[in-house]
Amino acid sequence: MTANPPTRIAQLRQASVAMLDGLTPAQQRCQSHPELSPMLWHVGHVLFMETYWLAERVFGDTSVTHAWRDLYVPEISAKDERSARLPDAADLRAWASALAEQNDAYWQRANDVDHPLLADGYLAAFVRQHYAQHLETMRLVRAQLALDAPEPVALTMEPAAPDSHFETIAAHSVNIGTDTIDAYDNEQPVFTAYPAPFAIAPHCVTNAQWLGFIESGGYQRREWWDAPGWAWREQAAVEHPQHWQPLAEGWAIAGDEAADTGQQPVHGIGWYEARAYARYAQARLPRELEWEAARRAGVLRDVEQVWEWCADAFYPYPGFRPFPYDGYSMPWFDGAHFVARGASVHSEPEVRRPGFRNFYPPTHRHVHAGLRLARA
Ligand code: AVJ
Ligand code: FE
Repeated sequence: MTANPPTRIAQLRQASVAMLDGLTPAQQRCQSHPELSPMLWHVGHVLFMETYWLAERVFGDTSVTHAWRDLYVPEISAKDERSARLPDAADLRAWASALAEQNDAYWQRANDVDHPLLADGYLAAFVRQHYAQHLETMRLVRAQLALDAPEPVALTMEPAAPDSHFETIAAHSVNIGTDTIDAYDNEQPVFTAYPAPFAIAPHCVTNAQWLGFIESGGYQRREWWDAPGWAWREQAAVEHPQHWQPLAEGWAIAGDEAADTGQQPVHGIGWYEARAYARYAQARLPRELEWEAARRAGVLRDVEQVWEWCADAFYPYPGFRPFPYDGYSMPWFDGAHFVARGASVHSEPEVRRPGFRNFYPPTHRHVHAGLRLARA
């Protein structure tokens, strides 16, 4: 992860463009899920954003960004209108190579320039993380495209009861947040928290345990659901994780046909479903500060396989200041986004740190998120 910035950025650019490989032109352009932009858009967006921050903001060069702003700035480009406006893959690849060459020259010059965004290598770290996060999203796009696989493979999986093993964390003080140059604004400022004693499961809820929930009527028992969660469940007719498929006998789990699938952390579930499972298990979701305290205390196993839904809506830490732009975190402190901690198998090294905070609406099920349980 600590290759010098231009080298790592070059890798990340190449990995982004390579996400187009092996897809048909229709797959490259389609929206594989209502919440996911086309693969072509992600590739254009990451190259555009590097160019925006470096060429435009540091060097005042708007020659590229001026023409592409309307398509690649998410705030001014409606998600469902992106597909029709995108260039084809060949044009996009050529554009990406030209930008890579231009930006490499700007990164060189940046070594001799004094600019607040460049202090301590901030901008290069920010750009790396942006590429890294979109690479994960592009893997989610590929996972959605793969759901159309012709022959589902039936699994043998026995339902399991909720785990009764919890680790107790005594009251203690813990520093929450991230104070390295990689930190996003929402991880700062670092502060000391004193979580009350709590118990947390060392393991994530598994696929077999989720099957136990399904077979116990988890998607039918109203009493385990929050009111808005139940309304959503009924309206969307949700009865199993997003990538599970009920077969005449048993289940197919797309992308996860291994013999030990039952023991793997479940994902493909939204926050409402995670809450319902916790209530069924007579437990609750961890608060995100508990999650971070437990992570820093070293008691969490199988971290960074699936994002882990936490109890809290996404909120600013005391003393929060938006940086380097309002749009990264501020719009999502709206009470309608919930925190997911850890990382997933799709995550790049740049986001794998105890203080990193992910956040999604409670209905997002395509983001490779699962859960672990906590108690009082
Ligand atoms: C933090 C993953 C929800 O993908 O919308 C990427 C990250 N922000 N570009 C997202 C992000 C701007 C963000 N998530
Ligand atoms: Fe982005």
